[in-house]
Amino acid sequence: MVARVTNAAELAGMRAAGQAAASVLDMIGEYVTPGVTTQRLNELCHQYIVDELKCIPAPLNYGGGGGQKPFPRSICTSVNHVVCHGIPTDGKTLKATDVLNIDITVIKEGYHGDTSKMFSLGEPTILAKRLMQVTQECLYKGMEAVRVGARLGDIGYAIQKHAEAQRFTVVREFCGHGIGKVFHDAPQVLHYGHAGSGILLEEGMTFTIEPMINAGKRHIKILPDQWTAVTKDHKMSAQWEHTLMVTDQGCEIFTLRKEESFASVKTA
Ligand code: MF3
Ligand code: CO
Ligand code: CO
Repeated sequence: MVARVTNAAELAGMRAAGQAAASVLDMIGEYVTPGVTTQRLNELCHQYIVDELKCIPAPLNYGGGGGQKPFPRSICTSVNHVVCHGIPTDGKTLKATDVLNIDITVIKEGYHGDTSKMFSLGEPTILAKRLMQVTQECLYKGMEAVRVGARLGDIGYAIQKHAEAQRFTVVREFCGHGIGKVFHDAPQVLHYGHAGSGILLEEGMTFTIEPMINAGKRHIKILPDQWTAVTKDHKMSAQWEHTLMVTDQGCEIFTLRKEESFASVKTA
């Protein structure tokens, strides 16, 4: 069964969770400066999520089923060639030329809000800047494909087409996901594929779109820590993520931030 909102209380819950998650990305921006460690960013977000928002950081101790090691931190920090699920650590001090994704998932009154964005620290390379921008455009193209009556494959098709037109590649090992009371639910939202394929999108379905786009080849590997995904060729990777709901107009982006202007988004 795919994740969906079926009544006003659930809709209010998803809106509140989404806005809580988005507020963490707004809060952390000013701390993403040269010399900060990814562990410090983790601590600042953890404290804000727990003490200010009264929410639960969903990544902390997530997983662990099937013999996997539970995720040991409250946020994911994925720097440069890290594709996703980077583990914050005291040993990783950020420098001016780094770019990173910060991925926040909070649980508020039982509902999940999941969102991520790219940050640069002041001096990204021209390539890094372009990759970050094109990846955000990929997310937006995916969101533009969402409406009642469209198909799931329309989303992946739009993303893949835009990424590959820029000679970038789409990571295939991770996908967007249904989300609600469950963190990772059905359906799987692939970031590549064919228009007109997959399930029909229906009013109220809730899922994430979270394309990971590489500057080099699409292939990845998982580090021995069992979480960190990196590009095999060590070239740069970028990711942006929103949690949304299908509407007849298009979609409602639960995790939209004030800094964004996304014309076809219907907000609450
Ligand atoms: N937030 C990630 C996603 O977008 C999942 C992180 S799970 C963790 O689905 F355990 F790595 F934190
Ligand atoms: Co997600
Ligand atoms: Co996420």
